[in-house]
Amino acid sequence: MTISFFLNGKESSIEVRPGARVSDVLRNDLGMLGTKIGCDAGDCGACTVLIDDEMACSCLIAIGQIEGCSITTVEGLAEKDEMSELQEKFLNGGAAQCGICTPGMLVAAHALLASKPNPNREEVEEWLSGVLCRCTGYSKIIDAVIDVSSTKTARVEAPPIGKSVGTALNRLDGNLKVTGTDKFGADVIPTDAVFVRVIRSPHHHAQFKFGDVEAFLAAHPGLLAVFDANDIPGDNCHGVIPEFADQPVFAEKKVRYRGEAVAAIVGEREAIHTLDLRGFPVVWKPLQYAIKASDSLKPGSPQLHEMRDRNVLTEGYVQSGDIEVGFAEAEYVVEGVFSTPFIEHGYIEPEAGYAIRQGHRLEIYGCTQAPMMDREAMAAIMGIDEHDVRIIPSACGGGFGSKLDLSFQPFVALAAWHLNRPAAIIYSRTESMQSTTKRHPADISLRLGCKKNGRVTAVDFSGVFNTGAYASWGPTVANRVPVHASGPYFTPHFRARSKAVMTNCAPAGAFRGFGVPQSMVALECMYDEIAEKAGIDRLDFRLTNALSNGQATVTGQVFEK
Ligand code: FES
Repeated sequence: MTISFFLNGKESSIEVRPGARVSDVLRNDLGMLGTKIGCDAGDCGACTVLIDDEMACSCLIAIGQIEGCSITTVEGLAEKDEMSELQEKFLNGGAAQCGICTPGMLVAAHALLASKPNPNREEVEEWLSGVLCRCTGYSKIIDAVIDVSSTKTARVEAPPIGKSVGTALNRLDGNLKVTGTDKFGADVIPTDAVFVRVIRSPHHHAQFKFGDVEAFLAAHPGLLAVFDANDIPGDNCHGVIPEFADQPVFAEKKVRYRGEAVAAIVGEREAIHTLDLRGFPVVWKPLQYAIKASDSLKPGSPQLHEMRDRNVLTEGYVQSGDIEVGFAEAEYVVEGVFSTPFIEHGYIEPEAGYAIRQGHRLEIYGCTQAPMMDREAMAAIMGIDEHDVRIIPSACGGGFGSKLDLSFQPFVALAAWHLNRPAAIIYSRTESMQSTTKRHPADISLRLGCKKNGRVTAVDFSGVFNTGAYASWGPTVANRVPVHASGPYFTPHFRARSKAVMTNCAPAGAFRGFGVPQSMVALECMYDEIAEKAGIDRLDFRLTNALSNGQATVTGQVFEK
């Protein structure tokens, strides 16, 4: 059907399926990549556009609904190829960090300023509340919108050479972010790429068998191949810490968590996009599972990996002073038990990218936080030399630790390698949340003692961290937490024990602090409680115990002036 509309002021018409999402048509048919897709469900607001000057999530609108309407995207905000004042304020105020939310945020703010040129803070907050940002904390975005109506200088000038320490600078890639021209993982995919869909386990723990895959392929025009563990030329194993590497690209015979990959289907874009995976021939036999660390540690709980006795991945331990002496000296003692849950990183950009084979070499483009680690891991998986693997990072729309691990890379690499065509993937939000690493849930017990004058005498910490089905950064968490579990406080007698425990959950990995934030929840709560018990102001209590120059941390590090 032909749909006609005005796009950023220009007449436009396109032959398209009327039920297609406006966001997809903008990006895939019209090449307007400034509009981003974060959730495809109207929750994140990254795809916000104006339709007849009204804000709308373009992922929720069918293109057939906008016949005769006018659409404004981020590309339409610049005036005569000059950034608008709003874009300048975003740039100069540091309001774009990773930049994946920035186009939607700018479009929404533009609509606000068009209807209300001098909004107050509450009005800006309310108006922008439908567009999520995981990086900035919103303050700089709100400041930038308010600043448009002020006379504040727009441009930040670079300081003279030799005088730059402490001065404000515009980020080098800031222009790209505020004009919507920065290229994220889904923006670099070539138009001739085939697409990949991953078959994932619906069970926490299960054996599985494939049925007649060839018949499935034959029954679905546009599909080209199905790959599984047998198609991996190198090692079907990866992990960010090589000594602990244990994660297969595709599970073999048995899955260990819900969302684990068992196979990948490759086909032409539309065939993959519209494919109903329910007919894929795989038979599951669910097994007993444990999703809590405490259950996994129980005798008789399923053993996730043969080499890991009692499902313990690794343990950490730090001791200084004598904990018995410390508690004997204490005049007040408190203790508590704490648990913290899985936390999803929630970056707005789902994992995306593509791979291309260049003879005996492989190139992978897409979002990653760790291209050199990716290169090493992909060389081992593909059974080729590291020098024959090139990783070209796109802009990364948030990562916060989770994009340090491999995710989409092996799937597109295998497809490109075997089919000799560029092969791409864009994770759905569900797939991203199901299969990528999370913050470790923790079960912590903590005992704390102090004297009447508020001086801490002893801390005894014990933490069990649920590291999921594969190691990822679990060893780092188990080993780093005991080093930091005393916080920024002088603690003369200290003991900290930690464990990373395997469970039938998605792997837990890096997330800003490697387990230390969880331990601080426990420590700071106990600091509050003991301060109250001792009748001392909570801040004064902390100042009394804060490490000063010359004092040693629990691992013997002495801070000097
Ligand atoms: Fe907003 Fe990254 S700058 S999500």
